[in-house]
Amino acid sequence: MSRDNLDSILREDRKFPPDAGFIGKARINRVALSAMQAHAERNLEEFWAGLAREELSWHRPFSEVLDRGQAPNFRWFADGELNASWNCLDVHLATHAERTAILFEGEPGDSRRLTYRELHGEVCRLANGLKALGIGSGDRVVIYMPMVPEAVIAMQACARIGAVHSVVFGGFSAHSLRDRIQDTGARLVITADGGHRGGKVIELKAAADKAVADGCDTVEAMVVLRRTGAPVAMQPGRDTWWSDLVADQPDQCPPVFVGAEHPLFLLYTSGSTGKPKGIQHSTGGYLLGAKLTTKWVFDLREDDVFWCTADVGWITGHSYVCYGPLAAGATIVMYEGAPSVPDGGRFWSICERLGVTVFYTAPTAIRALMKLGDDIPARHDLSRLRLLGTVGEPINPEAWMWYRDVIGGGRCPVVDTWWQTETGAIMISPLPGVTSTKPGSCTLPLPGVFADIVDESGEPVTDENKGGYLVIREPWPSMARTIWGDNQRYLDTYWARFDGRFYTAGDSAHRDRDGYFWIMGRIDDVLNVAGHRLGTMEVESALVAHPRVAEAAVVGRPHEIKGEAIFAYVVLRGDRPMGAAAAALTEELRAWVAEELGAIARPDDIRLTDNLPKTRSGKIMRRLLRSIARGEEISQDTSTLENPSILDQLRGEG
Ligand code: WT7
Repeated sequence: MSRDNLDSILREDRKFPPDAGFIGKARINRVALSAMQAHAERNLEEFWAGLAREELSWHRPFSEVLDRGQAPNFRWFADGELNASWNCLDVHLATHAERTAILFEGEPGDSRRLTYRELHGEVCRLANGLKALGIGSGDRVVIYMPMVPEAVIAMQACARIGAVHSVVFGGFSAHSLRDRIQDTGARLVITADGGHRGGKVIELKAAADKAVADGCDTVEAMVVLRRTGAPVAMQPGRDTWWSDLVADQPDQCPPVFVGAEHPLFLLYTSGSTGKPKGIQHSTGGYLLGAKLTTKWVFDLREDDVFWCTADVGWITGHSYVCYGPLAAGATIVMYEGAPSVPDGGRFWSICERLGVTVFYTAPTAIRALMKLGDDIPARHDLSRLRLLGTVGEPINPEAWMWYRDVIGGGRCPVVDTWWQTETGAIMISPLPGVTSTKPGSCTLPLPGVFADIVDESGEPVTDENKGGYLVIREPWPSMARTIWGDNQRYLDTYWARFDGRFYTAGDSAHRDRDGYFWIMGRIDDVLNVAGHRLGTMEVESALVAHPRVAEAAVVGRPHEIKGEAIFAYVVLRGDRPMGAAAAALTEELRAWVAEELGAIARPDDIRLTDNLPKTRSGKIMRRLLRSIARGEEISQDTSTLENPSILDQLRGEG
């Protein structure tokens, strides 16, 4: 990637300052932010140490803040001891045990409410049950559950006894589950008979059985939650019903205090090559990051009802469902099912009925719901909402504006939060009481986060709108510690590119004249058209800005003259035209993009399709699209494809 040709041609100049009412009440105002930034600049270790002492309850205080001895395998607060579950639950019991911790809604419409006292009791009972099964500190436990309170209870129970959980998303197949169980060497699997999703029952126990039967010799026991009531086969001697396991257990369980560097969890994420990586997070540093960013970015207060829609199978569900908000003593919402059941108003109906004040979701969900039109949200009272967040991919300005105007009624700040499984917590994001937002930009790094954009040789890119590698210059407490069982891969993936000088996120980004960060996409998603680097997201944003377009995905294909040609897959709002009408619309869209971004960005091919290929987590499968655009044989694993029948259409045969 050359610094001269990685140009950004996205032009977005709308800017929204936080309103006076919000500024007045915000946890972090301009003065507080300046003080924090100055502190972090002056003495980064002292900055984090102060926060770690203030925010976390330590069983044994740490004396050393940051150990760079084995850099880039950094260690934070290493001689301190604490327990994550203690910090999420016990610390609240003296002052607000009766506050609601979890408001749960199942897809079929059942609901539950757990106070902090009740949640603490359930976590202790399960923790005692796990101990009775012989699980102890350092043992790995794989959790394969629907989005029900017991998923959080299981995570917290592991944390309570020092066991290392690895949550596997319930939408993953038995095959993926097996790989993860094998890689962790788990002794125990916690699962459920099933869960409700999209009006169907997802049979988790059956998948877990299949996975374990396929060479998972380390698994000694399986704990099974009854959720759907569907019959399941229980293997005598190995399987226990959750309800039986906890039946006689006391609701108190002394926490096992662990060193701050003790792994809290492993979470698998896919890389550009090879098998999924087991990202290992620490106890102290991770929890600090999750808690602080929850308070800073979501401005959470006692009377807030916080709904992060992510499944606990993803890092977002770890940091902003299970750990951050509970450490902060907030009330969280958990919803089991799909946003489309019984209709596309489910999210808005939950926000209305449960009084959600802070809502955090992904651009893919926002776009899908936007596609259904404004009438659906209009049927719900969304006036309790005061803050909206987004995460997971660059959000196109059109979706951002719709979110702000239609969902937020124009009054809620929108925080576009950039981070990764590996960063553990939000890194670049507006602070809602300080930062003016711009649609499509994640704005500025949080205090203590030294993000930068560098060129091929690691020199900072200073020209405005020139793209480069997004890097983090200094370690931060919630950073991943290693890849489980493969530290070399950790070093190669995140540190080798610039000789260990800084963390390489694998994203490209540029900064505008205000220093705001704009994520252009993954490095391997960057197109090079006639010597100009183009972020795929920019072309997609342009397409989505067209009134007929609901969603777009852009990939490159080799082109004789220009190096790479732009190939766009487009999902329309409403019906997909055929024949001459389709050709005319395609031409119109090509001209539109040229008009929006410049001729260089005009897509060479546009394929109209009813859907984009997505993983069950909602990520567009770009490599698959790239293969199709290039007319190559599909070599990717399509087993995670939500809708396999889409392949013919994408090839232009449907
Ligand atoms: C990648 C990390 C961390 C939560 C969910 C995804 C992309 C994430 C944003 C954002 C633009 C974003 C990046 C990043 N990404 N947030 N606000 N704007 N891109 O976690 O699966 O680890 O993916 O998601 O490309 O590297 P993940």
